[in-house]
Amino acid sequence: MAKNITVIVLAAGQGKRMRSDLPKVLHPLAGRPLLAHVLGSAQALRAREMRVVHGHGGELVKQAFAGQPVKWIHQAEQRGTGHAVRQAMPGIRSGDVVLVLYGDVPLVPPETLRKLVAKASKGQLAILTARLPVPTGYGRIVRGERGRICAIVEEKDATPAQREIDEINTGLLACPAARLAGWTRRLRANNAQKEFYLTDCVGLAVKDGVPVVSVTAGSPDEVLGINDKMQLAEAEAILRRRLTTELMLSGVTLADPERCDIRGTLKCGRDVYIDADVIIEGTVVLGDGVRVGPFTLVRDATVGAGTVIHSHCVIEQGVIGTRCDIGPYARVRPEVQLGDGAKLGNFVEIKKSVIGAGSKVNHLSYIGDATIGSKVNVGAGTITCNYDGANKHRTIIGDGAFIGSGVELVAPVEIGPGATIGAGSTITRAAPAGQLTLERSRQATIPNWKRPAKKSR
Ligand code: UD1
Ligand code: CA
Repeated sequence: MAKNITVIVLAAGQGKRMRSDLPKVLHPLAGRPLLAHVLGSAQALRAREMRVVHGHGGELVKQAFAGQPVKWIHQAEQRGTGHAVRQAMPGIRSGDVVLVLYGDVPLVPPETLRKLVAKASKGQLAILTARLPVPTGYGRIVRGERGRICAIVEEKDATPAQREIDEINTGLLACPAARLAGWTRRLRANNAQKEFYLTDCVGLAVKDGVPVVSVTAGSPDEVLGINDKMQLAEAEAILRRRLTTELMLSGVTLADPERCDIRGTLKCGRDVYIDADVIIEGTVVLGDGVRVGPFTLVRDATVGAGTVIHSHCVIEQGVIGTRCDIGPYARVRPEVQLGDGAKLGNFVEIKKSVIGAGSKVNHLSYIGDATIGSKVNVGAGTITCNYDGANKHRTIIGDGAFIGSGVELVAPVEIGPGATIGAGSTITRAAPAGQLTLERSRQATIPNWKRPAKKSR
């Protein structure tokens, strides 16, 4: 019968080798804190409860996960993994299976964890092991008769022969709660590090006649622990490879999978093309046939089918219609909606605006707090003056309006449908529909005027 799972995440370690003020488990991996990845796997297993043992920088960690269904357990002094688990046990239902995870081991696939839980559900102590070409630093799995696990020895306590063992303890394990509660109470700190080792539960299990079984990680990548910035970058590369592989298998063309960073979730339609050095953040949806040019950042955006985003664009948030044409060098700031077939050209910035279908803002413009209808043409260098120094005001432009180049639209202001605004105008009052409005001083030519000449000394 499937048992309820309580997950204990060990995260009290200081993470000194990160050389950072940020608590280790808050360092971002693919755009989310390390701990979020670990809690994500716990959630994938539908754990009844998640308990996180925290210590250093705990308040920051708690803040970062405020509102999450996590029970926080403070371990004031880090006296070892066994001590940490012992502190987390009170209140866990004795019939549960406890799954121990590490806050700094973020890449273990849920399938692997499920295997551990399945074994523990049969009343066994199940430990996750791995075979590493260089096992240095890890606890070694000591097997006895018929390959049965009889102990885990820490490197610092190991004999030279034991150090030759290449099967290592990842630290992750699953165990019936009642057993784990009993064993962690019986742990003693009589070892090289004067710590309470969770791994000593193996010896106690053997004493009590409880089988100790292992699950071997599919690859060393799955159990990579993050202790420094090099391992963080390694984990980032592993995740990137996992995500880009999935994308390519689903039909997306990536110019270079090593140069496409996905820090969040990306959903793509058919025949999407992503050029080199593209960064995807948050939740992004790209419709059929979308093309994203090189050196472009797309965050929290939905992009309609057939839209082309050229190179060097920054799309910070928005809903972009179908067959739009954006950039190069365009910036779409939050709360933007682009209608189907709209066009944003180079060095154009759009903020909190709705741009109707087929409208064009082609060169060097700033459009903020505006509602622009369909088939509007905004000339080069036109800007909305949306901010009076205290408040923001809206600009409204009706369908089919033509705004000449270099126009200042001083909001609040409204341009009627089909209106034409002469180039260089500073528009401060409503411009009526269908007519030409311009605000411009008369051009003059001064006859016989001479350029000043340099005085001769
Ligand atoms: C532990 C294992 C070792 C294994 C290795 C894998 C023990 C005794 N040893 O060693 O067999 O090969 O992990 O990386 O378990 N933590 C706490 N409170 C503490 C101590 C640790 O929360 O008092 C947390 C840390 O934040 C970390 C995890 O437990 O996430 C492991 O601690 P760490 O000190 O890295 O364990 P190791 O000594 O490396
Ligand atoms: Ca470690």
